[in-house]
Amino acid sequence: MSNKVRKAVFPAAGLGTRFLPATKSSPKEMLTLVDKPLIQYSVEEAVASGVESILIITGRDKSSMEDHFDVSFELEQVLKERGKDELLRVVRAVADMAKISYTRQGEALGLGHAIYQAKGFAADEPFAALLPDDIIDAGKPALKQMIEVFEKYDAPVIATMQIDGEAISRFGVIDADEVEPNVYRIKDMVEKPAFADARSDLAIIGRYIFTPDIFEAIERTPPGAGGEIQITDAMRLLLKDRPFYAVKLDGVRHDAGDKLGFLIATVEFALKREDLGEDFRKYLKSLKI
Ligand code: UTP
Repeated sequence: MSNKVRKAVFPAAGLGTRFLPATKSSPKEMLTLVDKPLIQYSVEEAVASGVESILIITGRDKSSMEDHFDVSFELEQVLKERGKDELLRVVRAVADMAKISYTRQGEALGLGHAIYQAKGFAADEPFAALLPDDIIDAGKPALKQMIEVFEKYDAPVIATMQIDGEAISRFGVIDADEVEPNVYRIKDMVEKPAFADARSDLAIIGRYIFTPDIFEAIERTPPGAGGEIQITDAMRLLLKDRPFYAVKLDGVRHDAGDKLGFLIATVEFALKREDLGEDFRKYLKSLKI
């Protein structure tokens, strides 16, 4: 088995209930941070980390994602005629980014079930899974940080970050030993524990590198919280048979699938923009708050 991570899966078939009504007929993954849809940020992260082939798991009403990553002949023609070369480059780059294919989940039966749809795509190779609503703003791309650990330990790797206080109960939580700075060997993991039961302040966030044995573990996983097939439960089964690692990412994570997280990410990303940052900062400073 090659231990090079060349493939990545993007589960994007959830219902996005936290963002209704915006997500009633368009996917959460197409909400835009400044001027780029959420899913493009994580596709760019994967490509910058060495991924060559991408599978997006979609549900109903997801055709806008397919159109977004496809060539738009009419638009390109108009931009060409109007001499808008820079915009033409931006639009073209989206379509040229990577080899992207799509498959449908059918019913949103949970993240574990969504990832299972990638069984044929992954075949016998390790693969990454990125949740597009977790936006990770990092110098070295988050997935690259994880791939380095995967290549060193030759075992599945998940991303973690420290969460203070009771907010940890909203995440999967690991119990783990630190084996080198910011790298942990996982002993156990639990999805959304009560605060008193959380074994650490290390939350699981939306980046994973799996080996193909995850599929057999998902097959053995009964529906858990909310009747959904939870990926944490499947990883927990696999943990009994093989080592599993976690990397504390160097970067800032935004939960852009949540309204407040999305607003915060929008402000942070807008402030960093060369073309907008200065004016936007001036505006924010003028607010009487
Ligand atoms: P979330 O729980 O954040 O997404 O799942 P959701 O279910 O769409 O959102 P809310 O909680 O109702 O607002 C994390 C990721 O897993 C995908 C989602 O699309 C999201 O990217 N997912 C979740 C699936 O692809 N299929 C599922 O059955 C569940």
